[in-house]
Amino acid sequence: MPDSRVLEGYTVSVLGAGRIGQAILRSLAPCGARLIGTGRRNATLRAIAETGAEPLRDNRLAVERADIIIVSVKPYQFAELASEISGLAGGKTVISVVAGVKLETLKAAFPGARVVRAMPNINALIGRSTTAIATDPQGERDGALRLAEKVFSCLGTVYTIPEEWFDTWTALVGSSPAFLAEIIDGLVLGAVMTGMPRELAYKALLDAIKATAEHLQLTPYHPLQLRDEVTTPAGTTIYGLKILESRGVKSGLMEVIETSTERGRILGEMIDHKVRKQIGNPQNPA
Ligand SMILES: NC(=O)c1ccc[n+]([C@@H]2O[C@H](COP(=O)([O-])OP(=O)(O)OC[C@H]3O[C@@H](n4cnc5c(N)ncnc54)[C@H](OP(=O)(O)O)[C@@H]3O)[C@@H](O)[C@H]2O)c1
Repeated sequence: MPDSRVLEGYTVSVLGAGRIGQAILRSLAPCGARLIGTGRRNATLRAIAETGAEPLRDNRLAVERADIIIVSVKPYQFAELASEISGLAGGKTVISVVAGVKLETLKAAFPGARVVRAMPNINALIGRSTTAIATDPQGERDGALRLAEKVFSCLGTVYTIPEEWFDTWTALVGSSPAFLAEIIDGLVLGAVMTGMPRELAYKALLDAIKATAEHLQLTPYHPLQLRDEVTTPAGTTIYGLKILESRGVKSGLMEVIETSTERGRILGEMIDHKVRKQIGNPQNPA
């Protein structure tokens, strides 16, 4: 649990408060900030109100009233939102959780703002996000990084990492709840095929996964040492491991992270291009 009330006195506006934005709003509430969330549809505004935040349709008003702005629209919606509020964010802290969006792009989109790139994950819904943050030397000097640390400590654990690892982080930590959910579903379906009731298989597997993660955290094992401890010669585990091997599951998983990382990089380039076209490049005013 974060230090209580670390955000007392701040107003935080989450622009585009959908799935992750609402999770952020819920987690920030106990930290004492005044909270605003924006959306366009009535259903979104109703869901924002349920988090306890003030729902607004007007992004510009939400920016004017905020000290800290968190941008959480979908990647393809970023450039349009940025051009709507560009020029109003100067002197404020703008944090983007949008996959792929680079610090350089944030600086071009929000001139005069202190910018931070962040990548939480959906476990923010239960106060257990694993979030990365990054800024540039300017952001470090003027306290934006410390402020972002406070914000994301309300959601779970925070890692400050170099920006160059952000697309990998997005794949490995931002998207991994989805990848893990797929793997869990596959294992549970396997148990169902053998006749075990789904609910029992699901509950037991989640317990085993949680304990395995904790076991690995508590011991200096490489994961393969744990694997070998479970693997009895000619036993049940080695027969399962052979299938993982013959179906190329490990190389598939490596490719999952590699491809997803590359997608983040491509998205970042596309968004940067769109932002500079719509807003202009202050370093390159021609
Ligand atoms: N979901 C995750 O686990 C996760 C984790 C980390 C980072 N992210 C990043 O977070 C971003 C959002 O993902 P999400 O899953 O939360 O998507 P989402 O549920 O679609 O949320 C985006 C929200 O933005 C609103 N919106 C779009 N354009 C707007 C505008 N111009 N003004 C105000 N509101 C606007 C939409 O509301 P209306 O429908 O009412 O327009 C929608 O509720 C993505 O860029 C993603 O990379 C997501």
